[in-house]
Amino acid sequence: MPTVLITGSNRGLGLEFVRQYSSEGWRVYACCRTPQTASALNALASETVTIHALDVSDFTAIEALAGELQGVAIDVLINNAGVFGDGSPFGSINYEVFRKTLEVNTLAPLRIVECFLPHVEAGELKRIAHVTSKMGSIADNTSGGRYAYRTSKAALNMVNRSLSHDLGARAVTVVLHPGWVATDMGGAGAPLQPPESVTGMRGVIAGLSAGDSGKFYNYDGAELPW
Ligand SMILES: NC(=O)c1ccc[n+]([C@@H]2O[C@H](COP(=O)([O-])OP(=O)(O)OC[C@H]3O[C@@H](n4cnc5c(N)ncnc54)[C@H](OP(=O)(O)O)[C@@H]3O)[C@@H](O)[C@H]2O)c1
Repeated sequence: MPTVLITGSNRGLGLEFVRQYSSEGWRVYACCRTPQTASALNALASETVTIHALDVSDFTAIEALAGELQGVAIDVLINNAGVFGDGSPFGSINYEVFRKTLEVNTLAPLRIVECFLPHVEAGELKRIAHVTSKMGSIADNTSGGRYAYRTSKAALNMVNRSLSHDLGARAVTVVLHPGWVATDMGGAGAPLQPPESVTGMRGVIAGLSAGDSGKFYNYDGAELPW
């Protein structure tokens, strides 16, 4: 039975990843900040879908969960948890929010890979996917603003690129843009629904091979510009 660990799995894209992988018979380690209030996720809990408390900005908690799951093989590690930061414009940037955004969107995925690499190496597939955003593409930035979010995702893209060199054959690591999706973050007016986006991203993950490591993919499999 293949295994997957997903962060931020109580709502939005993370919850949809849990739904889809579990319905296809995967063993799912579903992480979220507050399991007590994660009612939609709790409804999916079973012997093969277990829920784990994890605030990704709490490095002690990341280390503790990696220790708790020591010896567990994780085929696919999905760094999905993310925050949008705020829209404070040039001239009045909110640096507290900026710092927090970097912690969650950039530093946490790297620390998670550091702590969970032994689990991924013990898996058969050895795949790591970070959910990034096209808003982190420097080439695609034609409108400015959104400093915290854009910067945190551009930096996540760079983390992924360095990981691909440092991990070599130990794991394939990619960044995935989910499209503009109707979640709390994407808003109700987004053109894509979570099932379509997640089906696409799962397809990209399933089709990865060694030569893909370090790359930036759209949910539909197209390669995106940095
Ligand atoms: N939706 C889009 O259009 C879109 C586009 C591009 C990229 N993305 C990316 O896709 C990923 C998922 O976003 P989404 O659209 O599903 O957004 P969402 O509905 O706002 O969900 C965000 C998820 O991240 C979790 N999270 C936030 N901070 C966390 C922390 N410190 N520790 C653990 N979990 C935390 C949230 O948990 P809580 O419920 O506890 O807050 C929630 O489960 C994000 O990385 C986002 O940047 C989304």
